[in-house]
Amino acid sequence: MKKEKKPKVAWGIAGAGEKMVETLEMMKKIKKEYEDVVDIDVYISRSGDQVIKYYGISNEIETNFNNIWVEINANSPFLAGQIQLGKYEFMLIAPCSANTVAKIALRMGDTLLANSAIMGQRADIPLYIMPSDYEVGVTITKLPDGKDLKLTLREEDVENINKLAAMDNTNVLKEPEDIEELFARYFQ
Ligand SMILES: Cc1cc2nc3c(=O)[nH]c(=O)nc-3n(C[C@H](O)[C@H](O)[C@H](O)COP(=O)(O)O)c2cc1C
Repeated sequence: MKKEKKPKVAWGIAGAGEKMVETLEMMKKIKKEYEDVVDIDVYISRSGDQVIKYYGISNEIETNFNNIWVEINANSPFLAGQIQLGKYEFMLIAPCSANTVAKIALRMGDTLLANSAIMGQRADIPLYIMPSDYEVGVTITKLPDGKDLKLTLREEDVENINKLAAMDNTNVLKEPEDIEELFARYFQ
């Protein structure tokens, strides 16, 4: 009997250290759990590539996922086209940097993930975004050497997140656990 093609999900990784390690752990768990029902293609922004190397997890991503691309420019790899052609059930960007959140909110498609997200929205492909931070105020983030770094999220950053949350077919996730619920909703 002919084997049916599995649905695919595009997972974008932006250059955010906050929640990066927890997100990878969650995506590894999800990949194992849904191995038979969905394929996960990984798209990493140029800054994301730098950040995963900084955190020493690029090998772990390579060994756990099969299809991985790193941004060359906004249209290379041509994720925007693949999304618009309906190749993916949805696009997930996790963790998403304040930079990529701002670009999508302001409709600036000059990077791989922002361009693909905006083009996907125009084709009504669902978009799920987990910002590295989402509340005004101080967050203490862990640096790869274990040291703490204090960061203050501005109102302007949160406004951008709220803009995204108000867009059609666009959903903001808060924690890696929300990604688990997302896959359960689609594929269980
Ligand atoms: C080690 C490291 C960690 C970073 N962590 C964050 C973060 O948690 N959140 C964030 O918004 N930006 C963070 N940045 C800054 C982004 O990488 C930077 O804004 C970059 O332009 C984002 O590009 P992208 O949105 O195309 O991935 C970090 C940068 C480095 C080098």
